[in-house]
Amino acid sequence: MCGIIGYTGQNDSVPILIEGLKALEYRGYDSAGISVSKDNSIKTVKSKGRLDRLAEKIKQTGNIFGNCGIGHTRWATHGEPSDVNSHPHCAETLALVHNGIIENYAEIEEVLVGAGYTFESDTDTERAAKLIDMFYKKEHDPLYAIRKACRVIRGSYALGIIFNDIKDTIFATRKDSPLIVSKSDSGCLIASDIPAILGYTREYYRLGEGIIAKIEKSDITFYDENGDTTEATLEKINWNVEQAQKGGFPHFMLKEIHDEPDAVRKTLSPHMKDGLPYFDVPLLDTEKIASFDRIHIVACGTAMHAGIIGKTVIERLARIPVNVEIASEFRYRDPILGKNDLVILISQSGETADTLAALRHCKAEGVFTLAIVNVVGSSVAREADAVLYTGAGPEIAVASTKAYTVQCALLYLMAIRIALAANKISTGEAANLCASMLKTIPESIYDILSKNDVIRNIASRLVSCEHAFFIGRDMDASIATEASLKLKEISYIHSEAYAAGELKHGTISLVTDGTPVVALATVEKICEKTVSGIREVKSRGGYVIVATTPSLAEKYNIPYDSIIPLPEIPEFLLPFPLITSVQMLAYHVSALKGLDVDKPRNLAKSVTVE
Ligand code: AGP
Repeated sequence: MCGIIGYTGQNDSVPILIEGLKALEYRGYDSAGISVSKDNSIKTVKSKGRLDRLAEKIKQTGNIFGNCGIGHTRWATHGEPSDVNSHPHCAETLALVHNGIIENYAEIEEVLVGAGYTFESDTDTERAAKLIDMFYKKEHDPLYAIRKACRVIRGSYALGIIFNDIKDTIFATRKDSPLIVSKSDSGCLIASDIPAILGYTREYYRLGEGIIAKIEKSDITFYDENGDTTEATLEKINWNVEQAQKGGFPHFMLKEIHDEPDAVRKTLSPHMKDGLPYFDVPLLDTEKIASFDRIHIVACGTAMHAGIIGKTVIERLARIPVNVEIASEFRYRDPILGKNDLVILISQSGETADTLAALRHCKAEGVFTLAIVNVVGSSVAREADAVLYTGAGPEIAVASTKAYTVQCALLYLMAIRIALAANKISTGEAANLCASMLKTIPESIYDILSKNDVIRNIASRLVSCEHAFFIGRDMDASIATEASLKLKEISYIHSEAYAAGELKHGTISLVTDGTPVVALATVEKICEKTVSGIREVKSRGGYVIVATTPSLAEKYNIPYDSIIPLPEIPEFLLPFPLITSVQMLAYHVSALKGLDVDKPRNLAKSVTVE
């Protein structure tokens, strides 16, 4: 959701800005731009489209260099993607980049029009730039101007600003949108996310809400809302450059699917002790768990789909009722939250605006909040009462894969912990489950990775279709929701997930000759019923791809046109190779169609606006 980079230091800023934007392109990629300051003037180059178009334009423009600059890659909110709507936005005294949404931009525009301003773009950001310009012209004090403007602005923002008469200095501030600042040997940087600074430093400061940072060539000063200087905590980066690179794979998505076995180990191991689940947070003490009446899981998109898996496994093992809620709906529907309820927020990025808003709602209601987050120190992680980190490492592809797999693995482990505390399973059973998770999940994912060619062949059958269905029952129905999202997100094939028994209540009217239906069949107790659903599809000419084990296929005489053979492992853990297999299927369909797998149209990785 828009990427911001800024650099001031000994070197020319232009290549550093372009490199930084490349690393942040997953956050938004419909247009990009840079502004560079030199000798009391700011030069700006902006372009609709991908970064290479901007790089080309910079080359053609020539003569753009300077030690201090800001850059932006955009996911449009206000105004279509175009050169003029791209950031940075300029006013007489400054250039500015913004990630977020300014809700009262129309009010701000009215004030500015009254003061004689005119506008070039349709963006909220240009209004913010000109508001700061107006205040700057009054006192010639950048901190005063930014503070005054931020008091007027409603909405979310991370801002990077350069003034044409303040040499080699970037100002940055934020509210509800992420921004980090860091020092390197050759200068100082601002960025929306860690991958942009990985090549320069291993340390950074996460800018606090409402704090203004003044970033000079070799110094960073933080100011609080009263204008007094304040301290920030230096944090260490626990990812390395290689983790944020493709490592020889053609796409980040494929590389990240291959990361899954290791990511599962890195997620589970720190949360196991003496062979049992171990969560070092008081919220998951035995006594506390016993006091929970209900659990709510709140998240968006793929993370919410992991929540559905969590619900299935927690209810099954621990017999505690679990609601799964879409974060963007949650707080607006006045949810019933009891004092003995636990709310689990799940987020890869930890910056998703809807999830953050839901978390704040729960805190205001006095309910316990526990975050499952991948990005260390992110907003959701910091604001929840307790946090459990997943060990996926950086996830760059817009389509989430390894983050989902490890969220599911961690929820499984939590379910075992909660079941143990609620006396629903014995210590021996819990120990057996833990041991088998740690060994079998990575092994079974490797097994699926080795079936790459089989899955690619099946994917070739889907390439030309317009619609597809994913069906399953019980746990398979939960996984179908994510399988379907994955396919539509990156292949642009319309796809729906249905509980296999529900298809006949209406949707089966869409199944005609050759309609692909992917049937997930791993739950033995209901396999016969799933088979009935598959037969109904086949009798209407549907093309059935079944994902199941060879033994279930044989025992239940499952009819199919193609099969994704899953490894013969305990049913409890079959969801994991199944998940990987449907991620691979979606990947291959998109790659075979020649689409931009890692950057699907209209999307961005981290959705930091509501
Ligand atoms: C899925 O592939 C998506 N990229 C999207 O649904 C994502 O899971 C959602 O936006 C939530 O993001 P988060 O985990 O960072 O909160």
